[in-house]
Amino acid sequence: MRTFFKILLGLLVVVVLAVAGFGYYFYSTYLGFEGDYAEADNLPTPNIDGYRYTDRNRNGELDPYEDDRLPLAERVDDALGRMTPEEKIHLLKGSGLASAVGFGESRVPGAAGTIVPTPRLGLPELVLSDGPAGLRIEPTREGTGQTFYATAFPIGTLLASTWNTDLVRQVGEAMGEEARAYGVDVILGPGVNIHRHPLCGRNFEYYSEDPLLTGKIGAAMVNGIEARGVGSSVKHYVANNQETERFVNDSRVSERALREIYLRPFEIIVKEAQPWTIMSSYNRVNGTYVSESPYLLTEVLRDDWGFTGVVMSDWFGGDDAVAQVSAGNDLLQPGTKSQWNRLRQAAEEGGFPPEKIDASVRRILELIFQSSKMKGEVPTNDPDLERHATVTRQAAAEGMVLLKNEGALPLRSSINVALLGNGSYDLLAGGTGSGDVNEAYSVSLADGLQGAGFTTNASAERIYAAHVAAHAAEFVKPVAMQAMFVPYDPPPVIYADSTLELFALTADAAILTIQRNSGEGGDRRETDDFLLRDWERNLITNASRIFHAAGKPVVVVMNVGGVIEISSWKDEPDAILLAWQGGQEGGNAVADILSGAVSPSGKLPMTFPLNLADHASAANFPEGGGSMNPLDFLFNRKLKPAGDQIRNIDYTDYAEGIHVGYRHFDAEELDVAYPFGYGLSYTDFRYANLTTSLVGDTITYSLTVTNTGTRPGKEVVQLYSALPGSKIERPVRELRGFFKTAELAPGASADVTGSFPVADLAYWNEETGKWTVEPGSYRLEVGRSSRDIRLTGEVTVE
Ligand code: BGC
Repeated sequence: MRTFFKILLGLLVVVVLAVAGFGYYFYSTYLGFEGDYAEADNLPTPNIDGYRYTDRNRNGELDPYEDDRLPLAERVDDALGRMTPEEKIHLLKGSGLASAVGFGESRVPGAAGTIVPTPRLGLPELVLSDGPAGLRIEPTREGTGQTFYATAFPIGTLLASTWNTDLVRQVGEAMGEEARAYGVDVILGPGVNIHRHPLCGRNFEYYSEDPLLTGKIGAAMVNGIEARGVGSSVKHYVANNQETERFVNDSRVSERALREIYLRPFEIIVKEAQPWTIMSSYNRVNGTYVSESPYLLTEVLRDDWGFTGVVMSDWFGGDDAVAQVSAGNDLLQPGTKSQWNRLRQAAEEGGFPPEKIDASVRRILELIFQSSKMKGEVPTNDPDLERHATVTRQAAAEGMVLLKNEGALPLRSSINVALLGNGSYDLLAGGTGSGDVNEAYSVSLADGLQGAGFTTNASAERIYAAHVAAHAAEFVKPVAMQAMFVPYDPPPVIYADSTLELFALTADAAILTIQRNSGEGGDRRETDDFLLRDWERNLITNASRIFHAAGKPVVVVMNVGGVIEISSWKDEPDAILLAWQGGQEGGNAVADILSGAVSPSGKLPMTFPLNLADHASAANFPEGGGSMNPLDFLFNRKLKPAGDQIRNIDYTDYAEGIHVGYRHFDAEELDVAYPFGYGLSYTDFRYANLTTSLVGDTITYSLTVTNTGTRPGKEVVQLYSALPGSKIERPVRELRGFFKTAELAPGASADVTGSFPVADLAYWNEETGKWTVEPGSYRLEVGRSSRDIRLTGEVTVE
């Protein structure tokens, strides 16, 4: 017995030591290691207090870099010249995850990363925080009752559905103001990857299947954020279109598809907004990690497009720190101890050229010098959340897309509505992971409808409350980060026919919500996600049958972050509102539309196909979906030997080339559930008087849009180009411009004019490696969607 206990004790000691050893390794490698900085250089612990722009290093003299009357380049050169090699290398990587996320001396708990300070010179630390739908920071802090909530704005896809660059710019300004107020220097967004396939788990963070729409909306967002003195990080550069095996997946894509589809939004944003930073993506492109690709990071991004800002890696992305920085990936986030060691050693041994180090450090210094921290600004921690709530509500309502309306909408707002399905009681504001926001509140559908004057059916509410009470444990929501790994999926409330009959008797209409959630680290799957679940299918059918028998309408609200199958059931309800995930004011925004306070004007930024298999990318996308395994972040990042790599997992062939989204559906003349650019309104519009001209290098068009209906409304005018008889393979039509009118009163008209350079008609010529404009007579098509062309014109390009 004694021996047994001894062995047990011995084992216990071994386990405890192993756990402690692993914990230490884990902590020092991946989390906090800022201490090494101070030790290595014998520097004081960073302290943001007391830095004065007049004399940052407190030597009593105004050195040139401290003098903000001098040109930026001069100040940066001066600072660079004063830095030790170690200080420079420190700047190339963040201070570790822990110091960023709130352990130790973190400045903004919940932020994702930092750019390290240089205490000797008084250079401040910058804070980087997610993300595309608003700031993701911890809402509470130890030792204070003060709260730090951020506004949950609508998801990226909803913002793109507004097709309203002015409005998106306002959202960006509000985000920028919040970031600045909370002491965040760079917002890690917007996300501008193309919706290559409907099941990418992060599509909700991204804008569209079309590069022009993505680029224009993205540029508006960046311009808005940066107008408030805060940087943005446009992500994830590039061809990061699936989450499965995201740390190593190789996107194998033709140069033409890269240039025309995947790089194009970034190019537009660089040229129209010159963002402070761009985030390189985890994946490889044609065999090389993006974060290690001199071609993508230097030749294309900087030499071709003229990007002058900082490139930062995605969190723990890439493999070799020296290869990354040498390729033009200036900043490694969140920064690990092994990167620090690798960079320092290579620099000492001559394997890391000083000019590469200086080039990246210079760009990071420029960023620091532009920041409000450098100007000594102290965060107010008091953003105007009330005003931002108005901005987000307006944006949310404007990006919701009315897919179907057979006389049901708008509803009379004094009626009683039966809310059906879990989602009707618990509307999702956004997706999970870094696309999430810690908002102070989120307006439910019931609250929104009641605020608009509706009454909600008491029997329906009682039944739902009883259901939640009976499954209380399953209705506990995972907290922010946890949601990425543990999908929240409580059991649905199932209604017997007799229950629905009771609702149909006591309510005037049914509102039924279909809900989907996803986030980084996992893709969606076809079964139970793209396709409806059985209970959802049955509920739509039964509610429609029973309410229709009572002469009452059924409205389906889609609270989703991406595309779902719709054609098999769209005939059953009377109206379908694609509400997306509308941020914290989602419930109010849905009520604004359902009540008619706002006429819908959102248009689809992607195609809703009949079947998943109709997409040209369908054969080359991972099946099965899944959520993220937390360990993937740390361990699942090693490349397998070439022979062991699995298709669609370790590598993905973009065999469809440029035929993404409507470009493919139109070329193949495939029926769709709803086409790109589609969306109904409560009013109607007439298009007339199209003129087109080519003067010099610019194509100009103008037309008149008239509201011919009986309600006020806004319209999205879309301009496509086509080249019938083209000598090369090209899409049937491609979006070249769009315009959102102001709200037009019934009978009112708007003159719409737009222009674009002839160069925008170019295709990427793989033989010459150049953009080439094919001469010919281009048809310019003006429409309400890609399949509802109202007017056509022509320009001849020599
Ligand atoms: C995501 C980025 C995000 C970063 C920091 C990564 O997992 O891919 O989009 O900005 O984390 O939170």
